[in-house]
Amino acid sequence: MSGHGDAQVMISAKSGPLKGVASVPGDKSISHRSLIFGAMAVGETKISGLLEGEDVIDTAKAMRAFGATVTRHGEGIWSVNGVGVGGFQEPADVIDCGNSGTGVRLIMGTMATTPISATFTGDASLRKRPMGRVTDPLSLFGTEAYGRKGGRLPMTVVGAADPVPVRYTLPVASAQVKSAVLLAGLNAPGETVVIEREPTRDHSERMLLGFGADLSVEKTAEGHVITLKGRPELRPQSVAVPRDPSSAAFPVCAALITEGSDIRVPGVSQNLTRNGLYLTLVEMGALIDFENPREEGGEPVADLRVRFSPDLKGIEVPEERAPSMIDEYPILSVVASFAEGVTTMRGVKELRVKESDRIDAMARGLEACGVKIEEEEDVLIVHGMGAGGMPGGATCKTHLDHRIAMSFLVAGMAAKREITVDDGSPIVTSFPVFEALMNGLGAAIRRG
Ligand code: S3P
Repeated sequence: MSGHGDAQVMISAKSGPLKGVASVPGDKSISHRSLIFGAMAVGETKISGLLEGEDVIDTAKAMRAFGATVTRHGEGIWSVNGVGVGGFQEPADVIDCGNSGTGVRLIMGTMATTPISATFTGDASLRKRPMGRVTDPLSLFGTEAYGRKGGRLPMTVVGAADPVPVRYTLPVASAQVKSAVLLAGLNAPGETVVIEREPTRDHSERMLLGFGADLSVEKTAEGHVITLKGRPELRPQSVAVPRDPSSAAFPVCAALITEGSDIRVPGVSQNLTRNGLYLTLVEMGALIDFENPREEGGEPVADLRVRFSPDLKGIEVPEERAPSMIDEYPILSVVASFAEGVTTMRGVKELRVKESDRIDAMARGLEACGVKIEEEEDVLIVHGMGAGGMPGGATCKTHLDHRIAMSFLVAGMAAKREITVDDGSPIVTSFPVFEALMNGLGAAIRRG
């Protein structure tokens, strides 16, 4: 579990042109869901391409603790023998979700309408993050939660014995909250309705349909109205997990800013709820070709050819795009540093409650690297220094946040002087092969 191990200093130096193929691991969101939905189906779900990052491994352990049989057969090949909707047993010990907000929030939803109790905890980063956004709507089902001040972990959740269905409008654009409510609704009688004003990643809806749930999505003036009929019998599935577009962002952005680069990144999701970064990069003048569009694992994907882009321009990132690129702002702020002109990112305050306060972490680190930054509660503005313009030569703090660590290591590949991160150990939560993959393309990342 990240944060339980020792800090790992990592250093990234100016890199030669990146060349080759960057095959990134499986999607983290879909990996969590394949284990959780598999645990709620009756029979054997087969999974290929599962991300074997620590976040997902922690979810696999949790599913075992609730009574499912979860087996690893080979690299990325797993099976889950589920206990059925409402079939979770009470775990004998505390559930430790490590660094994973998605893991803990989805699992809380899953057990919330079963008459059992479970106590959840996580690493120092997860214990700082708000759980009220999930336990508030779960209380409408009749679920109780007892946590630390501010709705923080450790927290005990007491599942509702006689759950009632819920109609809930999301107060924040959050796929985790949406998914937690839908998962709780699975074991409530009648229809549970979730309304989201801004569309967030839709993997839960797509996968629940695949597992045989009775779910419909209506686009109305209010937003997306998602209606789920409770107490279905979920059918086991074969899930082929597509590659993670949020992980692909790191080699893609590295190639854009590293002189002479020309790489291929196969199977990058074009799902409209996930592709905001790629739209933004193209608007900035990134040289990206989207080739061979097709479906993989139920997701629209394309193969990307990405070339060094010396003429990137700063832009105003449309606010309504934020949910479709919420995890990509840290690496976008690095690319923006190598663009000409100003990049303005508004409507990004959710970044403050991720694995770290990502606005603060990026602002402080980029400033240390010589970039001018402006910051408000909900806004991050980067004054670009052009291709090769970032001075670098700093040590950046990662605050137990994998995406902050990877972002600064990518920055180091194109900055004038090398960039050090104080702790790269959280990278294993989402992208365990990051260092080897990037060095295989031509990066110069080493351990300190
Ligand atoms: C996720 C949803 C997003 C995202 C996270 C994964 C998911 O979080 O940041 O990495 O799998 O549902 P929020 O729901 O908090 O926006």
